[in-house]
Amino acid sequence: MMEERTAAVTGATGFLGSHLCERLLEEGWHVRGLSRPTSDRNGLDDVDWYVGDLFDDETLEELTDGADAVFHLAGIGLWSAGPETVHRVNHDGTRNVIEACAKHDAGRLVFTSTSGTRRSNGSGPVADETDVAEPIGAYQSSKASAEQLVDRYAETTGDAVTVHPTSIFGPGDENFTAQLIAMGAEPTMPAYLPGGLSIVGVDDVVDGLLAAYERGERGEHYILGGENLTYDRAVSRIADHVDGSPARIPVPATAIHAAGPVAEAVGAVTNRRLFPFDRQMAQLATQRLFYSSRKAHEELGYTYRPLEAHLPETMDWYREELQ
Ligand SMILES: NC(=O)c1ccc[n+]([C@@H]2O[C@H](COP(=O)([O-])OP(=O)(O)OC[C@H]3O[C@@H](n4cnc5c(N)ncnc54)[C@H](OP(=O)(O)O)[C@@H]3O)[C@@H](O)[C@H]2O)c1
Repeated sequence: MMEERTAAVTGATGFLGSHLCERLLEEGWHVRGLSRPTSDRNGLDDVDWYVGDLFDDETLEELTDGADAVFHLAGIGLWSAGPETVHRVNHDGTRNVIEACAKHDAGRLVFTSTSGTRRSNGSGPVADETDVAEPIGAYQSSKASAEQLVDRYAETTGDAVTVHPTSIFGPGDENFTAQLIAMGAEPTMPAYLPGGLSIVGVDDVVDGLLAAYERGERGEHYILGGENLTYDRAVSRIADHVDGSPARIPVPATAIHAAGPVAEAVGAVTNRRLFPFDRQMAQLATQRLFYSSRKAHEELGYTYRPLEAHLPETMDWYREELQ
């Protein structure tokens, strides 16, 4: 019989982290999860919880000591904190996880960054891992500098790979997923954004995290993307799925550029809070941010499914929890 493997997961109480923990448990791993005292553990009773945060060295050491894999997912975006906290959690927190891994010679570290640190430089319509971009805003710059720490660790003492999910869609996400569904499914929300994005199902990202652990090359980066869709397309496919909602109107790019936070621009049109990015992120929401997952496909065997494959389960969750 194969010996049970141990995974340490930071961000285990979050949207992506809870889906990852569920899968690891299904596949027979022993799962250690980092949980803050206040975290909602999403009913994951079979996870071995370690209570503390990214600034609690002792807990991080216990969490990672002897782990075969360390999945570092904990992080925050600008919707929940100011720029200084975002930097502290995403950059300094990653440094602390690396130090704990190094101290106990833990197994491979899989760091979850974001596709946002890559952007097409204009030479092609889609970005890949080589399109390292000037970070926009505190979230992207905190992730970009955390990536450098991980790269250095992989070049020197440790084994690490970095994955870059695009916009993750699935049950349990009250931010992006809930807002996209609202744009497609709710008659009170007859608006969509200009621009476009890569939408990836949460289960596909979980596949990618496991494949990066199993087959990724030390020090490498992998974009884990999904379908590249304009907001218009994404919203109308959701509307088709939920059946017969009224025609939608686009929020004009000029309104977004002028208003700054997309929340304000869309709020003016719909009276709803939406994508509360900062001014710089608002500019991005009007562009087509498309990504290639070819490297992950070729090197990890990563594949993704279309939006419709993720809609039934996600709509069930949305109706049960949010409507
Ligand atoms: N969702 C996306 O579309 C997307 C796309 C690309 C990359 N990512 C990255 O993927 C990762 C997971 O994202 P998500 O959508 O699952 O986010 P999420 O639902 O907000 O979860 C974030 C997790 O980080 C934990 N955390 C935050 N601050 C912490 C701290 N100081 N100490 C310990 N834990 C802390 C949270 O704990 P609590 O439960 O206590 O709050 C939670 O478990 C993040 O690194 C994010 O940047 C996400």
